[in-house]
Amino acid sequence: MESSGYHHDLALLEWQIELGAAEAIGDGPVNRYEVPATMEKPKAAQPAPPVAGATAAPAAKVDPVAVAEQAAAGAATLEDLRAAMAAFEHCELKKGARNLVFSDGIPGARVMLVGEAPGRDEDRAGKPFVGKAGQLLDRMLAAIDMGRDRADAPVYITNVLPWRPPQNRDPKPVEIAMMKPFLLRHIALAQPQVLVIVGNWSCQALLGKRGITRLRGAWTEAAGLPALPIFHPAYLLRSPEFKREAWADLLSLKAKLADG
Ligand code: URA
Repeated sequence: MESSGYHHDLALLEWQIELGAAEAIGDGPVNRYEVPATMEKPKAAQPAPPVAGATAAPAAKVDPVAVAEQAAAGAATLEDLRAAMAAFEHCELKKGARNLVFSDGIPGARVMLVGEAPGRDEDRAGKPFVGKAGQLLDRMLAAIDMGRDRADAPVYITNVLPWRPPQNRDPKPVEIAMMKPFLLRHIALAQPQVLVIVGNWSCQALLGKRGITRLRGAWTEAAGLPALPIFHPAYLLRSPEFKREAWADLLSLKAKLADG
């Protein structure tokens, strides 16, 4: 058999390529059998000698709620708070979201609405309540002469969660718990006179309970403020027969503002 020459070298090359050695990693060939005499044998790793009385330190466990509380407390302005939320890395929702949805409307408005979580349109726009439900919310507010852009009767709007849950699934209790310190700080910094709690999950976050059909329309207290739970506009889109109750709740809000 031919042991050198063109065909022999070609066969060797083809064999190497078949083995996966298809890339040149050096300019010249290296004979790996020629180990330089000066090359030391690598020493086997030695285990560290045990220290008397020492036990392995447990990996520090991060408490996301405590981290959120600290970050929220350090925010002196709404812009600080937005930055603190943007820097918060413990909520999985952030990874799948395009934008942080912080707020819309006029900070300092007498009324602050708290919705649940951004949907697809809000995630894209980076603003709460801009989709179909948001448009209905705007019409509901306009019916009592209020609006997010109305300098004479403004509202301020945020959500419990600033990032869109995948496929618009319900918020998880752990997500609500870790974002709640930011929500409470948001309310404190925006200084509304009354809260409107929009939908079931917002009731869960601010009142610790759900059951919007029972809770809606009954003034209560949340975050130290008078608070009115109302039906979520997305629910009203699906069940327009409840618009009558929603209208009664809006009138109740209007009356409360006229009182105080
Ligand atoms: N639903 C909410 O609760 N919030 C939004 O921003 C949009 C839809």
